[in-house]
Amino acid sequence: MYNDKKVVFSGVQPSGNLTIGNYLGAIKNFSAFSEDYHCFYCVVDMHAITVRQVPAELRRRTYETLALYMACGLDPQKNTLFVQSHVPAHAELGWILDCYTMFGELSRMTQFKDKSQKNADNINAGLFTYPSLMAADILLYQTEMVPVGSDQRQHLELARDIATRFNGIYGDTFVIPEGYTPKDGARIMSLAEPTKKMSKSDANENAVVRILDDKDAIIRKFKRAVTDSDTEIRAGADKAGITNLLTIYSCFTGKTVEEAEREFAGFGYGDFKLAVGEACADALAPVRAEFNRLIADKAYLETVMAEGAEAAYRCARRTMSKVRRKLGFTELKR
Ligand code: TRP
Repeated sequence: MYNDKKVVFSGVQPSGNLTIGNYLGAIKNFSAFSEDYHCFYCVVDMHAITVRQVPAELRRRTYETLALYMACGLDPQKNTLFVQSHVPAHAELGWILDCYTMFGELSRMTQFKDKSQKNADNINAGLFTYPSLMAADILLYQTEMVPVGSDQRQHLELARDIATRFNGIYGDTFVIPEGYTPKDGARIMSLAEPTKKMSKSDANENAVVRILDDKDAIIRKFKRAVTDSDTEIRAGADKAGITNLLTIYSCFTGKTVEEAEREFAGFGYGDFKLAVGEACADALAPVRAEFNRLIADKAYLETVMAEGAEAAYRCARRTMSKVRRKLGFTELKR
């Protein structure tokens, strides 16, 4: 609980390259939580440095990610939007939790195994302890609910295990967080390989539609979307490509998949793909315009960062003083 509301926390890596999968599956729905929850959305720049970053780009992407969240409808008056490195308690609790996280647990993380393969020349300790920093992010705010993609489920489970272990030793300290994955309609697949989830790091740009892509790029990508050798526009297990396009159309227009199937009955695949591309581009046009407006106003973004960090710190410091006391750290009397 924070200010009498349950807490939602989610972290996002600072990359301006979020996809329509991130948008439809997550961010677009986040603004609805702020009615019932106190929501913290954090740009995790400290997690980002587990792989080598170009400093100027990291800085630019941090602004962009914040602006993109706001452009997607997250109002900084209703949500706490902040940057992880602005609240040092993340690093502090991260270290503490490292001491309650087992080497074996971290070794089993599939993301660590993947990333070590991809960054064989830089398998640093931060890459290994990434999940305990993520646990710190979540546990600092006494978070009840964490919207996460399926790739982060294992990390969330570990955060729960760490919290349970700590509570078992020291008595109730942390709320045990639950993961939240939105219901169906939210899983957006690659346009090139529609049995695979759309991934923001896909090497094939035609497979991914990004929130900030312009209309031409969006239409071009949808025109190239992989379908099947059939001619029928209907959803089904044997029709991954068409099903994905129907899902995307349905998410952007608010129509059901059945309504979309009826609407496109008798259409050729080419016209159908164009219509989906148009619906997507139209829905994203205002997001892009708002992003462009925000990113040009650095001073305003900096105010949002400052206020967010302040609000996050107010909540985090309560957890930190509890944790310090439980651990037996001496208190500094000033
Ligand atoms: N690891 C998450 C990702 O790569 C980002 C993240 C960091 C996060 N801290 C978090 C997500 C806390 C949810 C809660 O997507």
